[in-house]
Amino acid sequence: MIDLKGKTILVTGASAGIGAAVAKLCSDLGAKVCITGRNMDRLSEVSKQLSNESEFFQADLTLEKEIDNLVKALPCIDGWVHCAGIIEPFPIKFIQSKHIKSMFTINFDSACLLTSKLMQLKKINSSASFVFISSISAQHPYKGGSLYAASKAALESFSRSIALEFSSKGVRSNCISAALVETEMFEKTKNALSETELLGILSSYPLGIGKPMDVAHASAFLLSNQSSWMTGTNITLDGGLLLNTKK
Ligand SMILES: NC(=O)c1ccc[n+]([C@@H]2O[C@H](COP(=O)([O-])OP(=O)(O)OC[C@H]3O[C@@H](n4cnc5c(N)ncnc54)[C@H](OP(=O)(O)O)[C@@H]3O)[C@@H](O)[C@H]2O)c1
Repeated sequence: MIDLKGKTILVTGASAGIGAAVAKLCSDLGAKVCITGRNMDRLSEVSKQLSNESEFFQADLTLEKEIDNLVKALPCIDGWVHCAGIIEPFPIKFIQSKHIKSMFTINFDSACLLTSKLMQLKKINSSASFVFISSISAQHPYKGGSLYAASKAALESFSRSIALEFSSKGVRSNCISAALVETEMFEKTKNALSETELLGILSSYPLGIGKPMDVAHASAFLLSNQSSWMTGTNITLDGGLLLNTKK
């Protein structure tokens, strides 16, 4: 029985896709939810769908000043699901330093800065749980995805360090490595594929591709007291995709 009553949960990237689903589920499970993203219209739409107390904060997490303002404005939290992220295909021979910067600033740097600043301002309650949404591509690369995969591999490594450094406070940190989930991000990936390539990908998922709520349920478990002995781990959610590659 997953119950988040009495917990305050921060969800980044809550204006769309997985983050919006995480926010809705946490709210339905009794948490007070603090949602953040850049797009106020979409944030406000998500906020209207929350069943419990909530607050929303506009912040571009690529800007350190906006992270500072967000952290100052937030209440103390018992959990955080970091869903903010981008995907851009970059064939290795075309990579420029601006591409590395844009991918890492949101997918990795924002997680480090937010964690550090939340700690500095004592905004993290003891026994809090952090959940970072990663991707199976961190371990299983795809062509054109080198920067995205590297940013997620860095995120996974950072999560394990948090698990170790904050363990004395009872703070836990875990990742969810998702394969394709039906969101705007997936639409973007889809647009870069031919119909044959797309059908090939879809047919390689024994259970089909994921829905945002699939990731939300695993996040809620990691936020809850039911996972209190789990830290520094990574849950794979892939609809069985990797069964096909482990022959
Ligand atoms: N969908 C998939 O297939 C899939 C698979 C594996 C992992 N993931 C990971 O899951 C997470 C969520 O993905 P999704 O599919 O839900 O993506 P999405 O629908 O594109 O949503 C991305 C979210 O990130 C926020 N965001 C992007 N740039 C931001 C910035 N500079 N500052 C603050 N917020 C920012 C967006 O909010 P605003 O536009 O309002 O700023 C939006 O809420 C990502 O980290 C992604 O890498 C997704």
